[in-house]
Amino acid sequence: MKRISLTLACGAAALLGAAAACNDSVPMDGGGDDGSGSGSNMLDEWDQRLTERVTDYSAALRIAALRLTGDLPSMTEIVEIGSAPDEATKKSLYNARVAEYMNRPAYAKQMFYFWRDTFRLGETAEFDTAPAMAAQLSVENGSYMNLLTANANNCPTFDEGAGTFAAGECTNNGPKAGVLTNPGVHKQFFSNFAFRRVRWIQETFDCTKFPAEVADSSIDVGGASPYTGVWPFASISSPTNGNGRVNFQDTSAVICANCHSTINHITPLFAYYDMNGQYKTDMAVPTPLEGAPPAVFSDYLPPGEVTAWRFGVPAADIPAFGAAMAADPAIAKCGVARMWNWALGKTDIVDTLQEVPAATIATQIAAFSGGGFKLKDLIYAVYTSDDFTKF
Ligand code: HEC
Repeated sequence: MKRISLTLACGAAALLGAAAACNDSVPMDGGGDDGSGSGSNMLDEWDQRLTERVTDYSAALRIAALRLTGDLPSMTEIVEIGSAPDEATKKSLYNARVAEYMNRPAYAKQMFYFWRDTFRLGETAEFDTAPAMAAQLSVENGSYMNLLTANANNCPTFDEGAGTFAAGECTNNGPKAGVLTNPGVHKQFFSNFAFRRVRWIQETFDCTKFPAEVADSSIDVGGASPYTGVWPFASISSPTNGNGRVNFQDTSAVICANCHSTINHITPLFAYYDMNGQYKTDMAVPTPLEGAPPAVFSDYLPPGEVTAWRFGVPAADIPAFGAAMAADPAIAKCGVARMWNWALGKTDIVDTLQEVPAATIATQIAAFSGGGFKLKDLIYAVYTSDDFTKF
């Protein structure tokens, strides 16, 4: 039995390919095509194939059990659904079983592993607190946005044997905003200029690689290719505006600003964590310059520029940044897409929004956003949706 794969050619691929210059150290996956660029004949064909699928609760149960509990369904659970007299009974038995799976300690463990994978982080006490926080929200039906905004209990611990969580505060000083201020995150993704931390935030929570902001029309800046960002080209540092020690306005090979216009407006916020994820009073990340001097604000932005989540969305500190992310519909959309990705057994997020009909995704994003971004509700909705139980 094989699910119909609806992955279409991704128009964004060529764009993302440009990242190779300095964006390829970890194979984080990207791709943010919303499908609008695909030919309509193609879509008709996929729609046609979608309508040909049939519901199979027994097959769905097997996959749900594996993902939600880490084990196959028991014989009793299989027979219960297999011998139900009609589809309506099967459906209600299936839904009840999914809910029951999600109350088991094994579900907590599965979620912990899921978040370790998603965050690319874990397996030591300090690296496990961010996955534990997300797993706890998944078990206790907390808001997904707590991952970006919570100001307490951001470093809980998880007891794998018991499947239980113990509250914990992060002890790395500085502001508190969910996993955005987590010491394990900043230790794991430590790098020159703190750019890798920002890449992690982008790819984990927005599901796309940099460039994150692309203008409707591009501008000739004297390079081989045009500038495609939305920020003014001169809004990031170079040796000639302010005292930038790296030329982020360089156009000789690639247009750095296509990515760094966004990146440089974010990163100063995350440059205060040292290599151990401890928050310092001065910037605590090195630069790739001679002697690896620490980064300073003017390396990123010229005078007058302020930190921001996106163009027109300034954020003076990490809590404000987390709140701005939480208010961006793209973040909720990415969260829903990730859950689909996991349910359908895809390891890459690329093109996920096309694995299930846009209408399904749209309905679930609306329910997720309107219902307080509840994680357990979202997971239940995905696993009991028609698109999960049809093959
Ligand atoms: C396609 C997007 C993109 C473009 C274009 C781009 N960068 Fe980057 N850059 C990134 C990302 C993302 C990172 C972080 C990569 C990582 O550490 O995983 C990064 C990292 C860096 C770093 C830190 C590297 C290190 O030593 O850790 C420097 C310096 C840098 N970029 C400068 C530039 C300059 C200068 C240009 C133009 C010549 C440029 N970048 C073009 C996205 C881009």
